[in-house]
Amino acid sequence: MSTQSSSNQLPLHDRKKLTLFDLNSKKRDSQPITMLTAYDYSSALLVDQGGIDVILVGDSLGMVMMGLESTVPVTMDEMLHHCRAVARGATYALLVGDMPFMSYQADIPEAVRNAGRFLKEGAMESVKIEGGREISATARAIVDAGIPVMGHIGLTPQSASKLGGYRVQGKTAQDAKRLLEDALLLQEAGCYSIVLEAIPEGVARIISQRLTIPTIGIGAGQGCDGQVLVYHDLIGLFDRFQPKFVKQYADVSTIIANAIREYMNDVEEGLFPAPQHTYAMEEAELLELMRSIDL
Ligand code: KIV
Repeated sequence: MSTQSSSNQLPLHDRKKLTLFDLNSKKRDSQPITMLTAYDYSSALLVDQGGIDVILVGDSLGMVMMGLESTVPVTMDEMLHHCRAVARGATYALLVGDMPFMSYQADIPEAVRNAGRFLKEGAMESVKIEGGREISATARAIVDAGIPVMGHIGLTPQSASKLGGYRVQGKTAQDAKRLLEDALLLQEAGCYSIVLEAIPEGVARIISQRLTIPTIGIGAGQGCDGQVLVYHDLIGLFDRFQPKFVKQYADVSTIIANAIREYMNDVEEGLFPAPQHTYAMEEAELLELMRSIDL
């Protein structure tokens, strides 16, 4: 495995653990922030060693890891299970745990307790919650409890039913202004960063310029301070829809399918296991065994 980090060009042993302050410095210095999801130990290891700044254990795991139709049914316990696995594989990236639907919407004390579980039981360093003005008091309470919060506005998948499906948000001047107000409220509430999902590029650029905290875009164009994608979309490992904003960088499904076919063929043709995959035994011991069982 290469020891070279691709994003910051530092050898891995020279890398330092990324902090919230580093994200702010990146925004100030106009250095794009890279964020990617991961859901288990092996994907976290690859993403972290690749040099990504921020790893999000997204509730998208409901769809890409569990085969659900949406993120809505994902539970706290499922999220924490995946968070722990990711934390074991990640050394340098800043870790964000995605709070699942109804773990923070019903009441503020419950939201704070659940956010705390992400740090205490999930080994995360911060949490992400979806929504604008309606969750700004919740965001403030979580931050006041000492837990860093990342916001998420625009297309918020947990409320896709309310939004009328997975559709672009902020396309009218009025809706875009509302998004800007939401972003400013979240910043005021103490959020350290905000994900902007599926909003027009011009709107995302204005929001990013108005905020002092970094924005991370997904389907929000070039004007954001950073970008995030879902790991499975990036490597080509998800069999269902692919949104317009995804760029697929590899076709890992085909590589895996070919490997499985080759393995099956080798077993069926008697080519696997070969001698190098097999354990030997002293000839005398084998003869003794055969004698002892009358073979
Ligand atoms: O759950 C997730 O993966 C997300 C990203 C798409 C931002 O929320």
